[in-house]
Amino acid sequence: MYKKNILILMWALLSSQQVLSGNLQAGKQKAMVCAACHQIDGNSMVPIYPKIAGQSLSYLKKQLTDYRSAMRTGGQEGRQNAIMGALVVALSDQDIDDLSTYFSHQALSYRASSPPDDPMQKKQYELGKQLYRGGDMDRHIAACASCHGWQGQGLASAGFPRISGQNAPYLQDQLKAFRSYKRQNDMNHMMRSTAKKLTDKDIQNLTIYISTL
Ligand code: HEC
Ligand code: HEC
Repeated sequence: MYKKNILILMWALLSSQQVLSGNLQAGKQKAMVCAACHQIDGNSMVPIYPKIAGQSLSYLKKQLTDYRSAMRTGGQEGRQNAIMGALVVALSDQDIDDLSTYFSHQALSYRASSPPDDPMQKKQYELGKQLYRGGDMDRHIAACASCHGWQGQGLASAGFPRISGQNAPYLQDQLKAFRSYKRQNDMNHMMRSTAKKLTDKDIQNLTIYISTL
């Protein structure tokens, strides 16, 4: 009886590993088409394209599904983007699983980045840091750190993406997209309600700070 249980356990372990490596292998093959913009390891070199390496599995799956729903509902639901929409519209749930598994397993590259030396930029960095960590009570702006974490690492189980290591122009673009409600796929307006209170200066300061995390 004992031996039989061990065998069952081993079989279960082996087959779960097979599923994972199956996903990874299939994902890598399917990722060829993504490499043109995101690189094969997900560390996009073009700053307006997001890095997707090492992002959480649940967040990646949600984004790909959201781009697909926007295409399928004429923008009524999901996340609207012409480039990504065209790429995912024909993907199956399995494709999305494989691709997300693959990119979540890649290592995120960080550019060594310390606080800027330039006095003007240093000031912006400090203001960004303050807003990121403490929010702004007077303007009812929630601290970014309360959801994205002190180091920008995010919280996968709650659907908060990692934003550290991300390309700065992409960060800026997304904050503006939430602010103008062009991007509306955040549950319960979590990002829109914060972003709509940010000025252009806030966004610039925040981006300078987040880029050093
Ligand atoms: C032609 C360039 C291009 C290609 C090819 C491409 N992407 Fe993208 N990707 C983008 C751009 C641009 C964005 C940002 C769009 C936006 O503003 O919503 C993006 C966004 C994403 C995001 C959201 C990231 C985040 O942090 O929210 C994911 C996930 C993603 N792409 C995965 C993929 C996958 C998987 C493939 C291959 C099937 C792929 N992309 C192919 C350009 C591309
Ligand atoms: C209440 C929680 C919460 C707070 C506070 C919050 N965020 Fe977010 N943020 C989210 C969630 C959730 C998402 C992902 C939405 C989705 O599912 O697409 C997100 C997405 C983002 C993104 C897009 C990431 C990507 O890869 O596309 C950026 C950038 C961002 N937040 C920056 C900030 C900054 C800067 C602040 C502070 C001014 C902030 N967030 C405050 C919850 C929060």
